Amino acid sequence: MSQSQLQFDAAIIGGGIIGSSIAWRLAQAGMRAAVIERGDIGREASWAAGGMLAPLAEANKADAFFACAVASRAMYADFARELRKDTGIDIEYRTEGTLYLALTDEDEEELEQRWQWQHAAGLKVKKLKADCALKLEPALNPKLRWALQFPDDHQVNNRQLVAALEVATRKSGVEIFTQTEVKNVVISGNQVTGVATSRGEIKANAVIIAAGSWSGLIAAKIKSHLEPVRGQMIALEMAATKLKHVIYSSRGYLIPRLSGVVIAGATTERVGYDKAVTAGGISSIVENAVEIMPEAKALKIKETWSGLRPGSSDELPILGNDPKITGLVYATGHYRNGILLTPLTAQAISQLVLRGASEFNLQAFSPERFAVNATCA
Ligand code: FAD
Ligand code: GLY
Repeated sequence: MSQSQLQFDAAIIGGGIIGSSIAWRLAQAGMRAAVIERGDIGREASWAAGGMLAPLAEANKADAFFACAVASRAMYADFARELRKDTGIDIEYRTEGTLYLALTDEDEEELEQRWQWQHAAGLKVKKLKADCALKLEPALNPKLRWALQFPDDHQVNNRQLVAALEVATRKSGVEIFTQTEVKNVVISGNQVTGVATSRGEIKANAVIIAAGSWSGLIAAKIKSHLEPVRGQMIALEMAATKLKHVIYSSRGYLIPRLSGVVIAGATTERVGYDKAVTAGGISSIVENAVEIMPEAKALKIKETWSGLRPGSSDELPILGNDPKITGLVYATGHYRNGILLTPLTAQAISQLVLRGASEFNLQAFSPERFAVNATCA
């Protein structure tokens, strides 16, 4: 390729859903964007995830993170529609909602607390007696005490989402370099000029770090603040009609898919970059799945896998401009909620690159919150 063909307005490091969706938005706005992906597009955490869009089930207070999570969730119906129109791919956006179960004394306490802050904040949450919850989902454990219903905590099929985003980015003109590893960001003075890759240098006026759990290996500034958090998962064969809602407990979750599997997850393990699927991990997931839905015991295991959640030290995403290097932008650290946060992240970061400011308040997620003495490359 000639040098002029390797000159971009924006180079995005990482072809997970975060990098792909940002590239798509930038290209839609007329920018020449490139995604540089070490492996294949979307085969890491974005592929391994459950696809829950569940701020009420997963957040613990009404803070800045929660506000962004709810805002992103509200963008999903349009996001799914736009992807369908652009690519013909259905990301299986499902709106049956989520049930959060109380099965033990501790669960009852936890759910009561959850209900208190969510009810006080005026959120859509309902207490369901056991018989009502069992009427909605007869396969649940009859020992259920009561449940919370989150009608707006929805789900998508994240593997379909990854596939749709790959088609959408290509169609919008994004240049995609797969099997191409970024070694470091190239900086001249205090300005980004591109990235050094396993296939040579790619020049760009803006560089966006969206390499998920590996972002700290490229950007030293966040290295000690970002850690992979392994999640193991299993898919069980089950008729699609058996379960309609996403089912959550304090110990695990079940996500029914239209294709006739139910996904059970997940472990939360800090074991570095090891993506092994272990006997201990699978047995704990099975135990929790059976506690939620006893007949899970008889279901056939179709698939097991694991992925690495990009977990920051304060468990908040890292979104925004580098405080010292012009043109260097962070879009990483989405931890357990990267699928949920995709539409908002794509919009916010593309706005930042295009016009220097975002309509969303990203203050709480700024990379400036970390000590900033190290250089970035
Ligand atoms: P990734 O998908 O990991 O993508 C990063 C990409 O960068 C990878 O493709 C990688 O190959 C590439 N890369 C890395 N280094 C380099 C380099 N040097 N050069 C070039 N490319 C590089 N979120 C939800 O919202 N809902 C859920 O239900 C949910 N469930 C989850 C369940 C599990 C088991 C796991 C593991 C995660 C779950 N998540 C969920 C979290 C979600 O998957 C992540 O937050 C999200 O996928 C992060 O996306 P990403 O694009 O930043 O990272
Ligand atoms: N959000 C689900 C998980 O990270 O396991």
